[in-house]
Amino acid sequence: MQPSKRPSRESLKGYSARFLEHHEPSDQQKGLPCPPIQREPGSDQQVFDLPAPAPEVLRTGSIYECIRKRKSHRAFKKEALTLEELSFLLWATQGVREASGAHVLRTVPSAGNRHPLDTWLAIFQVQGLEPGLYRYLPLGHRLVRERQVPELKASLIEACCDQRFAGESAVTFIWTAVPYRTEWRYGTRQHKAILEDAGHACQNLYLAAEAIGCGACAIGAYMQEPCDRLLDVDGIDEFTLYLAPVGRVE
Ligand SMILES: Cc1cc2nc3c(=O)[nH]c(=O)nc-3n(C[C@H](O)[C@H](O)[C@H](O)COP(=O)(O)O)c2cc1C
Repeated sequence: MQPSKRPSRESLKGYSARFLEHHEPSDQQKGLPCPPIQREPGSDQQVFDLPAPAPEVLRTGSIYECIRKRKSHRAFKKEALTLEELSFLLWATQGVREASGAHVLRTVPSAGNRHPLDTWLAIFQVQGLEPGLYRYLPLGHRLVRERQVPELKASLIEACCDQRFAGESAVTFIWTAVPYRTEWRYGTRQHKAILEDAGHACQNLYLAAEAIGCGACAIGAYMQEPCDRLLDVDGIDEFTLYLAPVGRVE
């Protein structure tokens, strides 16, 4: 193998004895404060309470059926999701399952319970919500309306390397990484944990979508800067990591 390929492979590996001997203490070990687990909305932003996640939205309660039928869907019916269905998908992918003070546990696992992902939504067809760009607030199970993006559908398709289904969904999930949440505990040696966390969230989305008669497709082929510009994130402390359009399927 070309030596130039080796450094990026290193980021996929676990701890080595050498690393443990020589590593710098993490910010947590230095006693620095824990970063917030959620970026709160601005006082001028519109916030929406979501209905509590409830099993009434399920078309099958069988985990066997959901796993057996799971596949990537790239064509969706032009049908709106209900707010209850969206609530269920958000809860399944990043929702809070238990909270006691600062100790907040989610429906998905995360290395060190750091939860470095934020969930943005490009909403095209959800009952009761204007189409536009939103962000999920897991604490309180709410949505915040983010900035207006002119031509959201066209911009998203273009940012996803012209994959049309990215903008032909009822809603497209866009996960960003906020790496410092994980770095605070592990330093920069465990970036792979952020990718592992994203895999868990997306797999839950696939399975939860199946359970409500919808389909999803992971998108890893996107253009970094156009996606980050669309969300207006800085590309350093927060950047696009993974996407998944969701819609009703036959
Ligand atoms: C990390 C990752 C990135 C992916 N990126 C894309 C993508 O950009 N476009 C696409 O059409 N499918 C994408 N997929 C879906 C795969 O193509 C799909 O999972 C694979 O072909 C197997 O099909 P199945 O999911 O139906 O089993 C991605 C899947 C993963 C896990």
